[in-house]
Amino acid sequence: MAKALLLLPGDGIGPEVISETRRVVSWFEHNRNLTFEIEEDLVGGSAFDKLGTPAPDAMVARAKRADAVLFGAVGGPQWDPLPFEKKPERGLLRLRKDLGLFANLRPAICFDALKDASTLKPDVVSGLDILIVRELTGGVYFGEPKETTTLPNGEKRAVDTQVYSTAEIERIARVAFELARLRGKRVASAEKSNVMVTGVLWREVVTRVHAEFSDVALTHVLADNCAMQLLRNPRQFDVIVTDNLFGDVLSDEAAQLTGSIGMLPSASLGTREPSGRQPGLYEPIHGSAPDIAGMGLANPIACILSFAMCLRYAFRRNKDAALIEEAVEQILGDGYRTADIMQPGMNKVGTAAMTDALLKALDRLAD
Ligand code: NAD
Ligand code: IPM
Ligand code: MN
Repeated sequence: MAKALLLLPGDGIGPEVISETRRVVSWFEHNRNLTFEIEEDLVGGSAFDKLGTPAPDAMVARAKRADAVLFGAVGGPQWDPLPFEKKPERGLLRLRKDLGLFANLRPAICFDALKDASTLKPDVVSGLDILIVRELTGGVYFGEPKETTTLPNGEKRAVDTQVYSTAEIERIARVAFELARLRGKRVASAEKSNVMVTGVLWREVVTRVHAEFSDVALTHVLADNCAMQLLRNPRQFDVIVTDNLFGDVLSDEAAQLTGSIGMLPSASLGTREPSGRQPGLYEPIHGSAPDIAGMGLANPIACILSFAMCLRYAFRRNKDAALIEEAVEQILGDGYRTADIMQPGMNKVGTAAMTDALLKALDRLAD
C-alpha cells in the first residue's frame, strides 16, 4: 500500500535539502518496492508570505493525515520583525503540539571518516554514538503564561513559563529507557534540580519510572555539567533524556561533535495508535541557514538521514534505513565533503553532487 508522505520544505536551505531527499525517496520507489503518495505544502515564512500565516490549518490537517512528514527548516532574518504569533518557527511548533510529537530522537553519531572533521580531537569523538531524547511538547516552549506586559512605569516585562507534569515526564522517560534497552542500556537524565522545581519533579519521576527498567543503568546529571561533559568525554553517554529547552541546546552541541550540524537527523514521534500507526515528523536538527541559502552549498545528509529515520520508525523498514546509513558512510569514506565538513585533500562538492554520490552508492549497495 502506498504510504502518504507529506513534504514540508519550509525556508532557506529547507527546500534545497528536501528536494535532494526527494531524489532519495524516488530511488527507494524504483529500487526497493516502496510506494509513496507524495504531497507538498507550505510552512513557516514561505507560508506566511503566501497565506499570511506560518501554520495554515489545511497544512496541519494534511500533516495529521499523512503517514509521515518530512520537514526541511523554517525561519530567516526577513521574518524576524513579525509579531510573535506570525514567526515562521510557530509553524513547526504548532505541528509538534497538534500532532502530539512529544518524543524527539536526536542521534549524534560520528562517522569514522569524519573523526578529523570535528573541531574536537579525533580521540574524543571517534566512535561516538549517543542518542539525545528531547521532550518536545512541554516545558518552557509551551508553558502559560507566555506574554509581554507593560508595567505602570512603562517598562516591559516578559514571561515564559517552564512547566512539566508527572505524566509528561513519565512518557518521555519510558521512551528513553526503552530505546536504551536496544543499545548501550545506559540513560543519563539531565535537568537542573538544584535550581528548578521542574527539575526536582523531573528527577523524582525519572527515578520512579526507572524501577520498571532495572536492566538499564540510570544516572542523573545537572544540565550545565552535561554540556561540559559532552565536550570533555562525550562517549561516557549512551542515551541522554532531557527537557525541551535543554534538549534543544545540548543537541546542537552534540551535533558539532559529529563534525557538523549538517549531519544530524531527528525523528519527532507521538503515541503509537492501536492501528500501529505512529505520528511522526522527520527533520534535520539544523535551521534554515540563511548565510548559505540559495547557494547550493548545504549539506543534505542530515535531511537524508532523517528520511532513513522515517523508514525505520514510520514504515518499519530497518534494512532500507540501514542502506542509507551505509551509503552515507561510503561516500564520506570516498572523500565527498560539503563545505561544512571539508578537510584537506578531500573532494569538495555542493548539495546536489553530494546526493549524486549517495545515489550511486545506493546503486552499488543494492546490486
Ligand atoms: P542554523 O542551523 O540555520 O545555522 C547555524 C550554522 O550552521 C550556520 O552557519 C549554517 O550555515 C550552518 N548550517 C546549518 N545547517 C547546515 C547544513 N545543512 N549544511 C551546512 N551548513 C549548515 O541556525 P541559526 O542560524 O541559528 O538559525 C537560522 C534560522 O533557522 C532561525 O530563523 C532559526 O529560528 C531557524 N531554525 C529552524 C530550525 C528548524 O526549522 N528545525 C532549527 C534551528 C533553527
Ligand atoms: C530545533 C529548532 C526549533 C526549536 C525552533 C526552530 C522552533 O531550534 O528544532 O532544534 O527550538 O525546537
Ligand atoms: Mn534547535
